[in-house]
Amino acid sequence: MKVDVVLGLQWGDEGKGKIVDVLAKGYPVVARFQGGPNAGHSLHFEDKQFVLHTIPSGVFRKGTLNIIGNGVVIDPIIFKEECIQIESSGVPVKERIAISKKAHLILPSHRVIDAASEASKGASKIGSTLKGIGPTYMDKTGRNGLRVGDILADNFLERFNTLKTKHISFLKQFDYTYDINEREAEWLEAIEYLKGFNLVDGEYLINGLLTESKRILAEGAQGSLLDVDFGSYPFVTSSTTTCAGACTGLGISPSKIGLVSGIFKAYCTRVGSGPFPTELNDATGEELRKLGFEFGATTGRPRRTGWLDLIALKYAIMINGVEQLIMMKSDVMDTFETVKVAVGYKVDGKETSEIPFDTFAEIEPIYKEFKGWMRDLTKITEESELPFEFMNYVRFIEKETGVPVKIISVGPDRDQTIFRQ
Ligand code: GDP
Ligand code: IMO
Ligand code: MG
Repeated sequence: MKVDVVLGLQWGDEGKGKIVDVLAKGYPVVARFQGGPNAGHSLHFEDKQFVLHTIPSGVFRKGTLNIIGNGVVIDPIIFKEECIQIESSGVPVKERIAISKKAHLILPSHRVIDAASEASKGASKIGSTLKGIGPTYMDKTGRNGLRVGDILADNFLERFNTLKTKHISFLKQFDYTYDINEREAEWLEAIEYLKGFNLVDGEYLINGLLTESKRILAEGAQGSLLDVDFGSYPFVTSSTTTCAGACTGLGISPSKIGLVSGIFKAYCTRVGSGPFPTELNDATGEELRKLGFEFGATTGRPRRTGWLDLIALKYAIMINGVEQLIMMKSDVMDTFETVKVAVGYKVDGKETSEIPFDTFAEIEPIYKEFKGWMRDLTKITEESELPFEFMNYVRFIEKETGVPVKIISVGPDRDQTIFRQ
């Protein structure tokens, strides 16, 4: 057996939560491999709505084990809040979750560093979710971090205080006022709560499950264009959001990667700073935001909106080895008379089909226009009922990318999902 991977191909918020929840029906195991509570994955079913930050989106499926892999960073306070909320809806959350002992912990002081660092950047800030993600990964690669397994050690508190002291010293470089103890008591309580969970050697668990022929679905967080290596650096997150991250973030070999599915919105959104070549700062952009309800699931910030960018999509497909596409939120453009897609870039007056190295390069997108389908897609359940103009748009994307669109989502609910033959 291999691990199938579902990844966001844009700047996050493609609809990973919805699709993983739908697909989890066929997977006894779902695993998150990177990111942390910067993620906000929304799920809708049976008139209920949930936003998951740390917990994999298979948690609502009976019989599915949800693994939080070593590549994830965990804020115990947010994790606890999430668990309590899910539990209150009747889900036996403790039974359904296993957490790698090698996952790193986000300390309250990591959040303070995140905020201080962003404040010091002024206008060139990343637009971080301020959940402490960057500083926690810095401590991981800097070999100073605390891991979930460490909470069981007798000297955990001592090690926590040592790292906190390091952070206080690091914070001296910033002109930033903070209360380092603000969240500490709550954090330490949440650490006690975490001890009640199944803390595992995730790499042994996952490889063992593969040997037992269990189907595993790896759930990406963020998107490929926020990847620390391949995103629009420095306006990225601090983890490997691409397919390679599933190997390092779960402890599986590349030969164990199975089907790679890439999720994209029928248009584009981005939260936070950084280049967005097809961004629409006009009434159409506002319409996309309003109709798509494009506000951050984690921070509530309005998302920037724009047309689909095929140059960026093809890049993400290449980096990840995407074998099938999942197209989300098509219904948002149901009332648009015209839909545009970027098929090329003009950089310094020259046409190119590649993303330039220079993050600050002026990019002028070259668009192809499509006639809108002007039909309500939200109640359609069969491929054969999809309007001609809409299928034209889908087929063009397939032709340009060379990858089939296998699933089309036409609304936030589990049931608003069309599987193509
Ligand atoms: P994720 O971070 O990739 O899981 O995506 P988010 O949950 O942050 O953002 C996606 C938003 O779009 C959520 O509010 C979903 O409920 C919603 N959504 C997902 N799929 C569809 C769809 O096909 N149509 C519409 N209209 N909304 C969708
Ligand atoms: P999901 O999993 C959209 C963005 C932030 C910021 C940059 C760095 O829901 O798709 P960070 O907090 O990681 O330091 O922020 O990355 N970002 C996301 N944007 N969806 C996400 O997750 C994101 N996680 C981080 O807005 O621009
Ligand atoms: Mg999200």
